[in-house]
Amino acid sequence: MCGIIGILGNHEVSPQLVDALRRLEYRGYDSAGVATVDDRGRLDRRRAVGKLVNLSDRLVHEPLRGHAGIGHTRWATHGAATEANAHPHRHGRVAVVHNGIIENFRELRDELIAAGIRPQSQTDTETVALLTGQHMDAGLPPVEAARTALARLQGAFALAFLFEGETDLMVVARKGSPLAIGHGDGEMFVGSDAVALAPFTDRITYLEDGDHAVLTRAGALIYDRDGHQVGRPQNRIDVGATAIDKGGYRHFMAKEIAEQPVVIGDVLNHYIKGDRIVLPEGLDFTSVDRISLVGCGTAHLAGHVAKYWFEQLAGLPCDIDVASEFRYREPPLSPESWFIAISQSGETADTLAALDYARAHVARTVGLVNVGTSAIARDADIALPTLAGIEVSVASSKAFTCQLTVLAILALKAAHDRGRLDDAALAGHLADLRSIPGLLQQALNLSEDCRALSEWLSQAQDVLYLGRGALFPVALEGALKLKELSYIHAEGYASGELKHGPIALIDRDVPVIVLAPHDGLFDKTISNMQEVMARHGQILLLSDPEGIASGSDGVHATLRMPAGGGLFQPILYAIPMQYLAYHTAVAKGTDVDQPRNLAKSVTVE
Ligand code: G6P
Repeated sequence: MCGIIGILGNHEVSPQLVDALRRLEYRGYDSAGVATVDDRGRLDRRRAVGKLVNLSDRLVHEPLRGHAGIGHTRWATHGAATEANAHPHRHGRVAVVHNGIIENFRELRDELIAAGIRPQSQTDTETVALLTGQHMDAGLPPVEAARTALARLQGAFALAFLFEGETDLMVVARKGSPLAIGHGDGEMFVGSDAVALAPFTDRITYLEDGDHAVLTRAGALIYDRDGHQVGRPQNRIDVGATAIDKGGYRHFMAKEIAEQPVVIGDVLNHYIKGDRIVLPEGLDFTSVDRISLVGCGTAHLAGHVAKYWFEQLAGLPCDIDVASEFRYREPPLSPESWFIAISQSGETADTLAALDYARAHVARTVGLVNVGTSAIARDADIALPTLAGIEVSVASSKAFTCQLTVLAILALKAAHDRGRLDDAALAGHLADLRSIPGLLQQALNLSEDCRALSEWLSQAQDVLYLGRGALFPVALEGALKLKELSYIHAEGYASGELKHGPIALIDRDVPVIVLAPHDGLFDKTISNMQEVMARHGQILLLSDPEGIASGSDGVHATLRMPAGGGLFQPILYAIPMQYLAYHTAVAKGTDVDQPRNLAKSVTVE
């Protein structure tokens, strides 16, 4: 999703802007641009479609000078990925970069056109530049012009304004979309996240919703939604935690998959001490009557797995929903219930809005987030870090398994609080959880087998994934990963639903990937496999050694999963889902870390 950077510095700023944009690349984008004000006050911009290298090439041939500038990576919402639609947008003496959606832009645009102003792009953002430029032309000073424009905007935005003739001024604003101000020594910065600002400063102020700020090299004056000047805290961020480095791997995703045994170990060490689960105060499940789990994409699927755990282990009714449906459905929520928002970025617009709705209706809100400084972490009553470390690949891997691990711990805590597990039974489940990092390490050895299978998968038009129980959402995640990374159509189904539709698709060209540990439901899944094979379907069976010994007759291939892990096997089965998608994408030559059209952090609805 769009990334923003702004610098009031003491050096040539355009290389710094491009460097910072590179750190925002992981969010996903299709064009980029920068604007600077040079020392004589001249405002100018360069934009380019495609990867950042196109913009930096452009800057080599047509340099931009100046110590003040703004930059942007664009993920298209309104208007195709063209140079004219790329940011910064400029009108007269102002240039603007934006992340979000200006919902009333059509109305504003019509007004501007009626006033004789001609838009140059199809974007919603340009209206902000047009409005501000119009006010400046009418005689308002830059800050007042920006404020007057801001007052007209509906929707979600993080915005940075740069002005002709102003070498030491920037106006920034946020509503809905994230924005961080960085404090340097005689320099000021602004960015979509602290990652972009990490090379410049570790002192960060997060703007609150509705805030705007006037930046000069001397500092930031921050104003709330009512225009009152306010103080917002400066936080020291751990710059080391924002290191972006492939660590010798070909792709970030390969690195992030391989990190899972370590980061899951970190999660376990953080939340489990001996035979005790240690959670922040206020997380006592004794009198909770229901839980709503909400997220988007992979985070939603982590919640879907957890529904099985909360219900089976704790006897706690649990609803799972995608945030975009939950937020508008106006679901009736019990005042004794809890709401758990799951989000890697902690900034996903729909999840944030779902959390806002829930806050007014439930006893407690919990945010399960990987980015501890995010909006969801700040807005939830209790924030639980998922401790995956920075995840750069757009397609989530380690963030998913870390979410699963924290959710497993919560489900065990709920079961213990509610008397469904005594101390001994809890200790048994905790031992299963503690075995997971070692088992994950074994599962990582499947990479080469998955690579070999990817030759076969990469030829397919359609792939089916089947699973039962808590492995059903993992099948959904497998299909999602394959779609995202390799652009092959894939669907996940509950194995028992095979007969109710997807069986019509089966022929010898449709690979069917079956997730079936040797558990109480194994024989039922084997029957479903027989139904596929009777129709010449080609099965890849993922099971433990016992399952493979008893159920692999007639299958196309097997992947031998480690046995163990008790109820928490979904965490293990995530690994081959990731590797199959990863290697198939590599075989097809797609952009593994930044798949087309996708964004890491979806800050618009
Ligand atoms: C995007 C990403 C997914 C992610 C989803 C939810 O679609 O590409 O990888 O699962 O957003 O993001 P969140 O940050 O809320 O977990």
